[in-house]
Amino acid sequence: MNRHDFLKAGSLAGMAAVIGTGNAFGQNLTNNEMDKLVDANGNFVLQPLPYSENFLEPYMDAETLHLHYTFHHGGATKAANTDLTKIREALNSNNLETVDYWTKKLSYHLSSHILHSIFWTNLTNKTSDPSGALLRKIETDFGSYDKLKSYLVKTSKDIDGNGWGILGYQPYTNKLTILQCENHEKLTQWGVIPLLVIDVWEHSYYLKYRNKRADFVDAMFKIINWDNVADRMNNALKLTS
Ligand SMILES: [Fe+2]
Repeated sequence: MNRHDFLKAGSLAGMAAVIGTGNAFGQNLTNNEMDKLVDANGNFVLQPLPYSENFLEPYMDAETLHLHYTFHHGGATKAANTDLTKIREALNSNNLETVDYWTKKLSYHLSSHILHSIFWTNLTNKTSDPSGALLRKIETDFGSYDKLKSYLVKTSKDIDGNGWGILGYQPYTNKLTILQCENHEKLTQWGVIPLLVIDVWEHSYYLKYRNKRADFVDAMFKIINWDNVADRMNNALKLTS
């Protein structure tokens, strides 16, 4: 599939070439299991670190790493399971009163689980520079590694409050890109691939539905193309097959 087909189909299968097939993060991570965020029952699990707690000394001290991994990452993983249980309970009891709250919580905790899992595997105990295909992509999209580095350093240092500096791949434009992520989530779960989206900006409905967003949302379910949603799901599933 070329990039045109990829975008036309809304497929994210092209990402496989960038992030590796067979797991969510990268081919060379299959040995440490850090990228297995759920167990066989679909519950979120905190995997063992791929190294000892003093492995990143002196740049990251063992005590900080221990607290960070055990209580922050571990706490978020545990909480994400609670959030998911609450959402399942709400669905099973046909009472959606609390789902906004638990969905917000899940995005916070699961995004923490996802980003921390990537963070630990992004680190090692020796200094290196990007090379090969990664370096060439960096040079194409940012000009040089030095430019990317100064851009990522600057944006990471300048994040308001808590957050993450992120170098990511944007499949819809086939470009590496930098994100400043405040907190963890802003109601997303990192890496989610959109399959069905409902635009509830006012411009979607103000002429016909005036202030009645709820009527507009109900009406959308008369015209959803589920074959297209199914295509998108099948393409997304190829990422982990
Ligand atoms: Fe953290």
